[in-house]
Amino acid sequence: MRVGVVKELLPGEARVAMIPKCVETLIKAGLQVSIEHGAGTAAGYTDDAFQSAGATIVPNRAAVYNSDIILQVRGCGAQKEYADIDRSLLRSGQVLIATLDPLGEPHTIAQYAPSGASIFSLELIPRITRAQSMDVLSSQATIAGYRAVLLAATVLPKMFPMMMTAAGTLSAAKVFVIGVGVAGLQAIASAKKLGAIVSAYDVRPACREQVESLGGKFVELQLGSTGAEDTGGYAKAMDENFYHKQRELLTSVVRQSDVVITTAAIPGKKSPTLVTGAAVESMAPGSVIVDLGAERGGNCELTQANQSIIKYGVTILGPTNLPAEVPFHASQMFANNITKFLLNMVKKGALEINTEDEIVRETLLAQGGQVVNSRIISLLAPAEK
Ligand code: NAI
Repeated sequence: MRVGVVKELLPGEARVAMIPKCVETLIKAGLQVSIEHGAGTAAGYTDDAFQSAGATIVPNRAAVYNSDIILQVRGCGAQKEYADIDRSLLRSGQVLIATLDPLGEPHTIAQYAPSGASIFSLELIPRITRAQSMDVLSSQATIAGYRAVLLAATVLPKMFPMMMTAAGTLSAAKVFVIGVGVAGLQAIASAKKLGAIVSAYDVRPACREQVESLGGKFVELQLGSTGAEDTGGYAKAMDENFYHKQRELLTSVVRQSDVVITTAAIPGKKSPTLVTGAAVESMAPGSVIVDLGAERGGNCELTQANQSIIKYGVTILGPTNLPAEVPFHASQMFANNITKFLLNMVKKGALEINTEDEIVRETLLAQGGQVVNSRIISLLAPAEK
């Protein structure tokens, strides 16, 4: 079985789905590996390094698509503008594993299905203990949380730590993190390391302990959040009354913050709007908001995806691909995740797609020419069932 790894097509996507160390792991498991020429260059992994690890370098994407299993950082809806290129290359019997944005772009999956390939979405890996080492959303969100803090620190006209100097005492910056999932926790930890005073809020009360263990202060809103968490530990979408009240209560905390980092997300849904234009207006000039929810509409009403704007003197950043700004480590984590995911299905050098396995069943989108994933089928219904 041959595994092929492409060079990413999306402009600015500097990550690669494989690193030399993982090539060695795949070869030990009885697989062969082809890497597209230059696929890892932007992330710091040279063709020579891949070759030394035992991979074959192939000249272009079409040659990679001669493999049995194709690995990508982005495919289908996660690189919508280029979806037709891969669709024309994908054949029956092949396996495609990548982030594909199936919940945001289910129709792109429906267009890929007739290829007859088995298509796996890494975003749908269940957050269960056995799958932790495969979870790309978590590994990449960790990087985004870290990077968001660095971005804020460079834009803020203040320093983060408290300093007592001969030139006077400088007070520490106040950082407020909204949404304490993977990205949020890393943002709290990173802001603390830089010396900021950190507070954080999440709709799930269970987050309090985690925030406090990182040295942050958990902000309690008088909202009654019971029922805000589903059985999988994710936040549930709430009604508009709830969000309205939440926005009002958050305004007073936002007003007192130098930096607000928003990471609130509900799987497969638009980002909840939590920071209003009025809340931004109430902040001191020079304050910074980094909105990690920008790709799905943003947690701040004024955010514009991939833009840095200044409104009421407040800088609002809406980056959508922070992991690509740390491509060496982001690729290392991504490659480790995808390798573990793939090897979970490889037995004695052969691929076994066993849908009794929850990880396989939840991530398999299409097989035998049809969309087979129940979540995607219900998103496509009734038009394209
Ligand atoms: P996660 O699912 O681990 O955490 C999201 C958190 O938001 C959860 O703890 C949830 O309880 C909380 N939440 C949901 N609704 C809320 C509300 N109304 N009020 C307060 N908290 C609420 O997600 P993860 O992995 O930490 O990702 C966070 C966000 O960052 C996502 O939108 C993700 O797409 C984005 N992201 C952005 C990147 C970028 O480069 N911009 C890169 C990676 C992730």
